[in-house]
Amino acid sequence: MAVVPVELDGRSYEVRIGTGLLDNLAAQCEPLLRKPQIPIVADANVHEHWAGSVDKACKTLGRKPAWYVLPSGEAEKSWSRLEHLTDWLLAHGVERGDHVLALGGGVVGDLTGFACAILKRGCGFIQLPTTLLAQVDSSVGGKTAINSSTGKNLVGAFHQPSLVLADLGTLDTLPDREMRAGYAEVLKYGILGDADFFSWCENHGTAMLKRDTHALETGVAACVAAKARVVAEDERETSGVRALLNLGHTFGHALEAEAGFSDKLLHGEGVALGMVLAARYSARRGHLSASEAERVALAIDAAGLPSEISALEFDCSGQKLAGHMLHDKKMDAGTLPFVLLRNIGAAFLARDVVMNDVATFLDEQLQAH
Ligand code: NAD
Ligand code: GLY
Repeated sequence: MAVVPVELDGRSYEVRIGTGLLDNLAAQCEPLLRKPQIPIVADANVHEHWAGSVDKACKTLGRKPAWYVLPSGEAEKSWSRLEHLTDWLLAHGVERGDHVLALGGGVVGDLTGFACAILKRGCGFIQLPTTLLAQVDSSVGGKTAINSSTGKNLVGAFHQPSLVLADLGTLDTLPDREMRAGYAEVLKYGILGDADFFSWCENHGTAMLKRDTHALETGVAACVAAKARVVAEDERETSGVRALLNLGHTFGHALEAEAGFSDKLLHGEGVALGMVLAARYSARRGHLSASEAERVALAIDAAGLPSEISALEFDCSGQKLAGHMLHDKKMDAGTLPFVLLRNIGAAFLARDVVMNDVATFLDEQLQAH
């Protein structure tokens, strides 16, 4: 098992990464669990696959899980689901000093985290991430949110978990497409800040995608350590350091919006193609060599992720895609900061990007190939 600390003044916690953590759940969570009953939130898919292990682990320690099971999918990050969940937590007598367990991907983690941020002005929660994306990104760092009719993640709070248990065994039941989408976020850490880790991914990415335990533990721990450093330095994304984690997200968000935030393009797939576009746009502006930009595209392509915008068969203009970006929550006093690359492993925040230039670049990409 790898253990990565997230160092935050008075709110430090551990991210434990390994196999069999769910089998040992109640013991892993001691002494955070104060009562015989443990509230656990999961979506229906995760509940189907993993409730048995959790029930057994709780029983061993004489604890009783109280399950809140919701349908799977992004639509559950809603006001109505938040209201239902908080009412359920209140009905189950959850107090400030208690911990709620969030077993699932980013949807369950973000929703449960936000419910815990506002319940009685803040109760504890433990993240039990079951997607690769959640293990390397969303379960760590305390961003919690629901969506509003205006856009994704627009209503939320920073609320750190007390513990994260990333059981790599849970990835055995994760669909391959979701595994690849999460792997885009793994590559992201290399591309934005660690050229050696990017090379490691070029060599070991296939093993991670095949769920080789050793490759997974090494890769996930490296990502979490990178994220922990960023979060410790810029917890609330005010200095520009945490903003670098949005590499690929501005382009990706526009692609996701054009796809109607549907299954046509998963979030991680949008980020993957978004990173290719960010690299190529960096090359176009003269920051990065064209060969390094294509190295990014090759790594994305090798993982079975989309690397060409033309493959999405969008019937739209670059101007329309650029228009989607203006709804990005990172808009700051009328300008949109872009995460661009000086090199693989050296991202920076560009605040002088002209949207018409982005639109022209996207037109070129839409017409390529
Ligand atoms: P998700 O939670 O919807 O999970 C993806 C799918 O996999 C779902 O159908 C789910 O039921 C299924 N699933 C999950 N674990 C499984 C398992 N072990 N076996 C079988 N099926 C399983 O999606 P996600 O990709 O994990 O997360 C996306 C969400 O995360 C988005 O809402 C995004 O906004 C959010 N996010 C948050 C942060 C953050 O910092 N808080 C960062 C990145 C993304
Ligand atoms: N997923 C980006 C962040 O946590 O800041």
